[in-house]
Amino acid sequence: MRFLQGSAARFVLYRLGLRAADTQTTTAERDCLARHAAGRRSLVEIGVMHGVNTGLLRSVMHPEGELTGIDPHPRGRLGISFERRIALAELARHRRGKARLLRQMSYQAAAEWGHRAIDFLFIDGDHSWDGIARDWRDWSPRIERGGLVALHDSRSVGERPDLDSVRFTTEVILTDPHFLQIDAVDSLTVVERVATSADTAG
Ligand SMILES: C[S@@+](CC[C@H](N)C(=O)[O-])C[C@H]1O[C@@H](n2cnc3c(N)ncnc32)[C@H](O)[C@@H]1O
Repeated sequence: MRFLQGSAARFVLYRLGLRAADTQTTTAERDCLARHAAGRRSLVEIGVMHGVNTGLLRSVMHPEGELTGIDPHPRGRLGISFERRIALAELARHRRGKARLLRQMSYQAAAEWGHRAIDFLFIDGDHSWDGIARDWRDWSPRIERGGLVALHDSRSVGERPDLDSVRFTTEVILTDPHFLQIDAVDSLTVVERVATSADTAG
């Protein structure tokens, strides 16, 4: 396979069943995601990569649920995103409801989203301060009361230096009166919308 390198070789190995799709989530984090996404009807994931968690969310959501995965999946040297091909295959392993992948940045998708409410959002895209701040500003108002937001890389883990998303979660999200932390495992935090802006106005 010398003529194939990097992500193309990775894709061939995946298709041959010799390598699984990659994910940055731990087993405990995936169990947590599955527990909280179970039965949800309108789900969004920002940062799909190989789609391991996208497939997981589809496997547990309401049978008539709608799942949207968002990732620009940039094309490589051959003009193809092998990551996206793996993600589409991971998504096709499950048949619940409707699922789609938007090939966009999260802020582009947000601008076109309209007024559809979301009851489960998984944020695992741009972990810079500006990136997570923009995702929080764009997407959190769309979470309905009782809806959940799961944030990856939002807690300190081991020796790894904290990403900006850890600090943003601590300083902004966990002090937001509209949301309450309901779970946390490894680098994953789950918050629930407990109040709307109308509740806290005035
Ligand atoms: C940390 S990886 C996601 C890992 C994946 N959730 C998993 O654990 O299996 C980050 C992904 O987010 C995507 N990404 C980065 N910024 C983004 C943005 N603003 N909107 C959507 N996707 C973004 C990247 O292309 C990359 O595939």
